[in-house]
Amino acid sequence: MKVLVTGGAGYIASHTNLVLLEKGYDVVVIDNFSNSCIESVKRVEKLSGKKITFYEGDVCDKEIMEKIFSENKIDAVIHFAGLKAVGESCRIPLKYYSNNLNSNLVLAETMKRHNCKKLVFSSSATVYGTPKKLPLTEECEIGVTKENPLGVTNPYGATKLFGEQIFSDVYRADNSWRIMLLRYFNPVGAHESGMIGEDPQGIPNNLMPFVAQVAVGKREYINVFGNDYPTRDGTGIRDYIHVVDLAEAHVKALEHIDSFGVGVFNIGTGNGYSVLEMIKAFSKACGRDLPYKIAPRRPGDVAECYANCDKAKKLLGFEAKRNLDDMCRDLWNWQSNNPNGYNK
Ligand code: NAD
Ligand code: UFG
Repeated sequence: MKVLVTGGAGYIASHTNLVLLEKGYDVVVIDNFSNSCIESVKRVEKLSGKKITFYEGDVCDKEIMEKIFSENKIDAVIHFAGLKAVGESCRIPLKYYSNNLNSNLVLAETMKRHNCKKLVFSSSATVYGTPKKLPLTEECEIGVTKENPLGVTNPYGATKLFGEQIFSDVYRADNSWRIMLLRYFNPVGAHESGMIGEDPQGIPNNLMPFVAQVAVGKREYINVFGNDYPTRDGTGIRDYIHVVDLAEAHVKALEHIDSFGVGVFNIGTGNGYSVLEMIKAFSKACGRDLPYKIAPRRPGDVAECYANCDKAKKLLGFEAKRNLDDMCRDLWNWQSNNPNGYNK
C-alpha cells in the first residue's frame, strides 16, 4: 500500500513515516520545508533501511500535486502539512487560513481526480475550544455554540475546525470517501533511537521543547504560564502523548479506515499532567532540577484539557503504551544528542 504523507518532513510525520516503513507501507512525502528540513527524511531512511519517494513542494500547488498522483499510484493520504503556531496565527491569520485551508482544497481535488478517497487528517484537541466537561469525548461540542460563543480561541484552531468541516462535506457529497479525523492532544518525546525528534525554529512555543532546551543549557529558565488556575497545583493540565504512540495511531487509523465514513477520534492517553509535574518528570530524566519562574498566564490557554480515549481503544484497537517517564527519557535522549536539532 502506497501512502502519501503531506508535511512528511515534520515532527509527527517523521515518526509516522518510520512506523509506516517498518510495517511495510511505501511512503511518498511532500514538504515545502516551511518548518522542517530534509535531514529528518534522511534519518528515517537510515533508521528503516528503506527509501522514501520525496517531493519538495507546496500542497497548495496544484501542479506538483498532480505530478505526485500521476507518478505514483497513491492508495491513501495522511495530511499533516500545516502551520501550527497558535500565537503566530493570531498575528498573521491570513497566512494560516491560506496555507491550512487551500492545502485541504487542493489535496481533496487532486485525490478526487485520481480516485484516491482514503484520507487521515491531523486535527487537534484545539477544536473543542474551552472544555465544558472533562475528560473530552468525541461527542463534546465543537465550533461556535450557544455555550461557547467564540468557538475555537485562535485562527489556527479555526483552520482545524474548518478542515474537519471541509472533509466531512466531501464525504457527505460522495459516500465512497473514507476519512479519519484524528484529534491529537499534546504530542511530546522522540523516537527511542534519539535520531529523530522535534526541532522547533527559534524560541519554542510549546512547553516540553522549551524545557528540553533549558536542560541542555540553551535557555536559562522555564516560564510557567500561571500558577493560579483551578487545578491541583495551580498550573495548566494537559494530556501529553508520546509521539511514537501518536505515530502508531495513524497506522491503526489506516488499518480500520474502511469501517468508517467519517471517523472522529481523540488521540491522547487520558491522563492529565500539570506544568510543574512535567518539569519534575523531565528533571528526573535529565538528572538535575531545572530552574523555573512563575510568569503571567498566556492569553488563550485553558486550565485543563485531557481526553477520554475509549473510542480509539474500542474501534481502532489503539491505546498509548508509553508513559510520562518514557516521554521524558526519549525527549532528553534526542535533545542531548542533537542540541541544535537537525542542524548540528
Ligand atoms: P511540523 O511543523 O513539524 O510539521 C508540519 C510540516 O508541514 C512541516 O514539515 C512543514 O514544513 C510542512 N508544511 C506546512 N505547510 C505546508 C504546505 N503548504 N505544503 C507542504 N508542506 C507544508 O508540525 P507537527 O507538530 O508535526 O504537526 C503536524 C500536523 O499535526 C499539523 O497539521 C499540526 O497542525 C497538527 N497538530 C499538531 C499538534 C502539536 O502539538 N504538534 C497538535 C495537534 C495537531
Ligand atoms: N506552558 C508554560 N510555559 C511554556 C510553554 C507552555 O507554562 O513555556 C504551559 C501552557 O500554559 C500550558 C502547557 O504548558 O498550560 C502546555 O502548553 P503547550 O504550548 O505545550 O501546548 P498547548 O496545550 O497550549 O497547545 C498544544 C499545541 C496546539 C494544539 C494543542 C492541542 O501547541 O497546536 O496542544 O491540545 F492545538
